[in-house]
Amino acid sequence: MKLSVFSTKSYDRTYLDEVLTTRFPTLCTIEYHAFALTEETAPLALSSNAVSVFVNDTLDAPVLRALHAGGVRAILLRCAGFNHVDLSTAEELGLFVANVPAYSPEAVAEFAVTLIQTLNRKTHRAYNRVREGNFNIEGLLGTTLHGKTVGIVGVGRIGLAAARIFLGFGCRLLAYDPFAGEEFKQFGTLVKLDTLLQESNIVSLHCPLTDGTRHLINGETLARMKPGAMLVNTSRGGLIDSAAVIEALKTRHLGGLALDVYEAEGELFYNDHSGEIIDDDVLMRLMTFPNVLICGHQGFFTSEALTEIAGVTLSNLSDFADGRSCPRSLVAEGHVLVRTDTAPVRL
Ligand code: NAI
Repeated sequence: MKLSVFSTKSYDRTYLDEVLTTRFPTLCTIEYHAFALTEETAPLALSSNAVSVFVNDTLDAPVLRALHAGGVRAILLRCAGFNHVDLSTAEELGLFVANVPAYSPEAVAEFAVTLIQTLNRKTHRAYNRVREGNFNIEGLLGTTLHGKTVGIVGVGRIGLAAARIFLGFGCRLLAYDPFAGEEFKQFGTLVKLDTLLQESNIVSLHCPLTDGTRHLINGETLARMKPGAMLVNTSRGGLIDSAAVIEALKTRHLGGLALDVYEAEGELFYNDHSGEIIDDDVLMRLMTFPNVLICGHQGFFTSEALTEIAGVTLSNLSDFADGRSCPRSLVAEGHVLVRTDTAPVRL
């Protein structure tokens, strides 16, 4: 089998090569591509049986059809979110699609809290000051998290991990999740979105991006937030209407914004654009606010999570190759023909 891996960074190679050698030595050969999967780059996967992609690769109908026509039968997501995959087209084509649902919920939850406390206590500004010999703490005033109300939107794996951490800070917890189970009730109260927005000092987004959650945070919902509250998004950029958030920052209604994700991140994130003129005026405006902190989608980025991502990705491929039922499959699994270098083989 041949696997084409798109959007590869050095750390992807390191962890995938390690897992391939130690756990799946005969599973496949891997071809790494540094660039993203798009309609233009899809032809480079056409000698492969499977492709592996990350959060900003394109997996719309034209790309899936091109891959399928060229013999690709399995799509392996190296991420949890699958909002960027046209699953109905994948299903129609009989493609195997599997994700890595929970590589380290704690890694993302811990990062959300890291962003909150950085923005709140201004350690990013203190770091720069102190390095220049400036030990003045004026302008670095924060608030104590203990006793504050944190609203968690989406109490799945990451939202629950965040709840456990916030509880340790002594926060009061509210959550909104139309599909929540019982687990959150040991940490706090499930409420309507309006109540959460009205009562929370910090709103942290941990729900997936779907048609129903796109721009969940918009002009109207921002207006319902407590004045001066902080909004944190480590989930998916499309949950927030960025133009509306700029307005809420300009009126001082929104007290702070911490983002690990951004709705138009696909063009920019994971690459060095420091020597270029960046054409995204919304992102550039966001970066001018002193109470905005933006990172480039790194919530997942711990060695534990990378080990898990590599292991589960190749385990998904192994399930597909051996015709086993895969618990992480996102569409119906077909017993499909896959091509080897010599002849088609029925799996
Ligand atoms: P999960 O599937 O365990 O939990 C998602 C929760 O959101 C579920 O409880 C679900 O009921 C809830 N939900 C669904 N629709 C909702 C709505 N309309 N309003 C409120 N809640 C809703 O997913 P998990 O593992 O907790 O991940 C959450 C998101 O985090 C992923 O969808 C992904 O986009 C993002 N993520 C970000 C990473 C990063 O590096 N920044 C890394 C991994 C995931």
